[in-house]
Amino acid sequence: MRFIKYPAMAAAMFAAATAIAAAEVTITIDAARPGPVINKNIYGQFAEHLGAGIYGGIWVGPESAIPNTRGWRKDVVGALKNLQVPLLRWPGGCFADEYHWRDGIGPRGGRPARVNSTWGGAADSNAVGTHEFFDLVELLGAEAYVNGNLRTGSPQEVVDWIDYMTADAKSAPGQLRAKNGHPKPFKVGYFGIGNEAWGCGGYMDPARYTKLYNEYQAAIKARGATAPQLIASGGKDFDLTWTEHLSKHAQGDPAGITVHYYTTATGNWEKKGQATGFGEDQWFSTLQETLKMQGIVTSNLARLDENDPARKFKLILDEWGSWYDPAPGANAPFLQQQNSLRDAVLAALNLHIFHAHADRISMTNIAQMVNVLQAMILTEQDRMVLTPTYHAFKMYVPFQDATSLPFKLDNNPQYTLGKASIPTVSASAARGKDGTLYLALVNTNPREPADVAVSVAGAKASSASGAVLTAAAIDAHNTFAAPGVVAPAPFAAAADAGKLVLKLPAKSIVVVAVK
Ligand code: AHR
Repeated sequence: MRFIKYPAMAAAMFAAATAIAAAEVTITIDAARPGPVINKNIYGQFAEHLGAGIYGGIWVGPESAIPNTRGWRKDVVGALKNLQVPLLRWPGGCFADEYHWRDGIGPRGGRPARVNSTWGGAADSNAVGTHEFFDLVELLGAEAYVNGNLRTGSPQEVVDWIDYMTADAKSAPGQLRAKNGHPKPFKVGYFGIGNEAWGCGGYMDPARYTKLYNEYQAAIKARGATAPQLIASGGKDFDLTWTEHLSKHAQGDPAGITVHYYTTATGNWEKKGQATGFGEDQWFSTLQETLKMQGIVTSNLARLDENDPARKFKLILDEWGSWYDPAPGANAPFLQQQNSLRDAVLAALNLHIFHAHADRISMTNIAQMVNVLQAMILTEQDRMVLTPTYHAFKMYVPFQDATSLPFKLDNNPQYTLGKASIPTVSASAARGKDGTLYLALVNTNPREPADVAVSVAGAKASSASGAVLTAAAIDAHNTFAAPGVVAPAPFAAAADAGKLVLKLPAKSIVVVAVK
């Protein structure tokens, strides 16, 4: 009636309402149609003998003045425990293909020092070996992913290592392990056969690697029940030839085939861009580059579906994250880089992609855990600082082993810079192990906030509470002098007139429990 009486006012009200609707993203979560479980190993980590990735960063030795547990830094391990690290890959990376496990057992004083020829010729005392690694894994409550040496090793060396780790204490390898302090077998969750065989792992083609993989797996599988699950090292980026070859010819049911993808700020490996001090152009290009993960995952999965319709192979991204140019004056081979709000957003976008393919992605390992590339933690002598990526991983803990939920994201504007665009809002929803419905949202736009109206099909969404991660500057980062520049803050919203709207600040991550 009023519309007829005051047509002009009604039209204006309608226009205003549409204007608001146009500016508001909507997400409708279908909680009644649970999807696959998000394997907690998607939150796996990677620690390599590389720069201060282990020595100094996590391991200081039992004699150190830095408080430690049997050599492992208490501050770093304590912080990592809060991330509930489910899985740790070690000792490399490229380093795995020059590592000989016998160097790292027995009394530490008697172990040979070696040159880490992969990473800058640094001295490696071998103080961290098999026993120390499993001690760390136990301290963290994580599962072990041990990466074997294909390039300079042999099937026999790998089998001897697996025997040493897993054989019964009454056997000869088990007795040696017991003599070195651990009668009980270690639990090797996963064992990788080589790494990046297309590059540092031997510069091979997929056919040669697959042939070698089959030889190694046959030797390992002959151990019977004690054989760990094997991981076949695959390709990188959009090169599908490795997934193609392995999914057709790999024998012995590997737990998965790996793909590596690193994000640079420029898409140019020769000039990757800086970790801090960048402008909006590189904020944008980094996020655009990282979103290529979506195409990498879907193209690999499509190839797996063609070759492996029974879906026995899983896809494993056991190296991913940002890789920038070394900071001026830094020791380039040590790959230490600052970590900014941009990296946290990058991590969240990748986690959303992994969640969306939880049926086929069983594991991912961000590179790397401490002091290397997109690290959780940076250290300098006895000091430690948590990075924005650490905070993002902490916010996403409820998604580990949660059941993914389908959702519909509508009216999502593009964030445009120049001629290029990416979606403004990225989302993921899941029912946590505690029964709570969790929603994660990212606003990629560094200039504009985004309002997201949340509804749950068939239920009432009346409130949301959790945390938001944002900062004033696009390259905001934490330092030893200012460790709290990027830190999560509480976030809460309540439904108004039955409508729940989450106001995402510009350049932010929000993770909430929806009630
Ligand atoms: O994570 C650093 C290196 O990147 C790894 O050792 C290697 O596998 C990759 O090229």
